[in-house]
Amino acid sequence: MPKIQIMSDLLSNRIAAGEVVQRPASVVKELIENSLDAEANEIIIHIEDGGRELIRVTDNGTGMERDDLLLAFEQHATSKLFDFEDLTSIKTLGFRGEALASIASVSRIDARTCNNDRSEGFRLLMNGGKVDRLEAFAMKQGTSVTVRNLFFNTPARKKFLKSANSEYRYIVETIRRFALGSPNIRFHLTADGKDVFILPPSDLNDRLRQLFSPRYSENLVTVHQEEPPFVLKGYLGLRELVRRKGGEQYLFVNGRLVSDRMMNSAVYSAFGHNLDKGEFPFFLLFITLPPEDVDVNVHPAKTEVKFRNEWQIYQFIRRCTEFTLKDFPGKSPVENIDFRSFVSGGQSPISVPPRLDGEQMTLASQEAGEKSNPSEPSLSVEPENFSLDERIRRFEESIMGSPDSSPSPLMTEKNFWQAHGKYIFTQISSGVVVIDQRAAHTRILYDRSLKALQTASSASSQQLLFPVTIDMSPDDFSILLEIVPSLEKLGFSMREFGKNSILIEAVPADLQWLDEGRIILQILDDYKESRRLHNPVSEKIALAYAERAAIRRGESMTPAEMQRLTDELFQTENPYLSPKGKPVIIRLTLNELDRRFDR
Ligand SMILES: Nc1ncnc2c1ncn2[C@@H]1O[C@H](COP(=O)(O)OP(=O)(O)OP(=O)(O)O)[C@@H](O)[C@H]1O
Ligand SMILES: [Mg+2]
Repeated sequence: MPKIQIMSDLLSNRIAAGEVVQRPASVVKELIENSLDAEANEIIIHIEDGGRELIRVTDNGTGMERDDLLLAFEQHATSKLFDFEDLTSIKTLGFRGEALASIASVSRIDARTCNNDRSEGFRLLMNGGKVDRLEAFAMKQGTSVTVRNLFFNTPARKKFLKSANSEYRYIVETIRRFALGSPNIRFHLTADGKDVFILPPSDLNDRLRQLFSPRYSENLVTVHQEEPPFVLKGYLGLRELVRRKGGEQYLFVNGRLVSDRMMNSAVYSAFGHNLDKGEFPFFLLFITLPPEDVDVNVHPAKTEVKFRNEWQIYQFIRRCTEFTLKDFPGKSPVENIDFRSFVSGGQSPISVPPRLDGEQMTLASQEAGEKSNPSEPSLSVEPENFSLDERIRRFEESIMGSPDSSPSPLMTEKNFWQAHGKYIFTQISSGVVVIDQRAAHTRILYDRSLKALQTASSASSQQLLFPVTIDMSPDDFSILLEIVPSLEKLGFSMREFGKNSILIEAVPADLQWLDEGRIILQILDDYKESRRLHNPVSEKIALAYAERAAIRRGESMTPAEMQRLTDELFQTENPYLSPKGKPVIIRLTLNELDRRFDR
């Protein structure tokens, strides 16, 4: 008896499944790729229990005929690759003919498909890779694959699945990536019967707006460079979108999203001094090159590729991004970018689709207590824009009790300059004013939070597209429970999620400079520190929140933001002092300047 035997298909499929299918999100990825390869322009994804219970992807693509439906679930059955030559020039997302076989081997399948307009379709039921039934089935053209009980027959792998919520987040992120890569396709995701998002077909610019907060589209530059046979198109995020963690670097190679550290670093290096170590810029880039210049067959999940001449591509990407960025030196935001330079068809969209992450609030969002109206962008609280002179005068009068007088000219954005990413300079009639941006913002947030905490109303919040879970120690968890009511008044919305962990579903509307998850832990830390102190809980929490959420030193601000900040500052209790008692504003009078210049 020879020792070596050929494995059964079932066994080899299951082994392949280990590589192809790591989690529910991998199933979603493979099914969406198949739908895109089948030329669908509408893809509906339905999941239950984070995809652990059920995943269904339905498309309106070409569909399959009866025999192909059966074959599709056989290993090495593909309609996309016929000979060795084809392997060197792959134009479809799939090509191995193993995804469906692998998925089927570790789940229960209900696949339905129809390739004609006579509703003559078929339905195939499978269990752990074995065919149960194949029957005629009436449906409109397209394909729908339902995957139930993933890993039901591989308990060890099932154990490695994370909570429904984590798996859900992986799935949302997967779909989000496809949605970015194929803006012309309609994506619809429902989870446990509820709509998560519906993305109508659009151009890249609008798709970005659908998926990211408005801050993104306000801080992008368009890249479009051609050096035949290479083309690079897309968007680069400016300084404002730089984050301390990666994950927002999207590179599509011939339509396939890949992760490639070398090409990422090509972009990073183009930022030069504007990017510190450990900082990651946002980018969404599409590179097109001859299919034979890139080998996509190097990774089981097809998420990595090998470029035939990687240095050439590296240099190309670097040159293009450098060229694009050179017109935007430093940290200034860009205005009036033509986002439509490569939209499909070039027509401008009729309406802006609803945003997924709630309305982003401006610094001058709204007074505590005022509920935000999601259909209406928030306005500055003060209708008339008084000059800064006027504000200062009014403030001093309010302390000194002297009579009101007529307002001076409008305060305009043009009068604001930012220095070193931390000080705001502006001119007033008696001299110049320097404002510490962080101290000012802390004062504003502190006043607003305190007001929310001390009155019946709560501050407005923005829903998170990806709810964040935080695990903590039992001690921390019990302290957190003490302050949850206060946090909710500030605009956080959270619920208990398993033992000692919480799920953050919404954050205060004015929280826009940081990581949503971390701030809760930071507030908790500050609160723990201050528990010994005797001031009221509301003050402690307002202070912790203001300190943690205020704009950092080093963050650049647009003139409009500086104007709003100043505007808001003068509506606080004490614009001159931060909640911790540090100066916020320094005034240099003309007299003093004249004296120092010996005039
Ligand atoms: N949604 C769909 N619409 C039409 N045909 C499909 C669909 N999904 C799968 N097929 C057919 O089934 C075949 C097998 O799909 P499968 O995903 O297993 O392999 P593949 O896409 O060819 O390669 P890969 O394993 O790299 O994904 C495809 O080649 C295609 O012909
Ligand atoms: Mg496939």
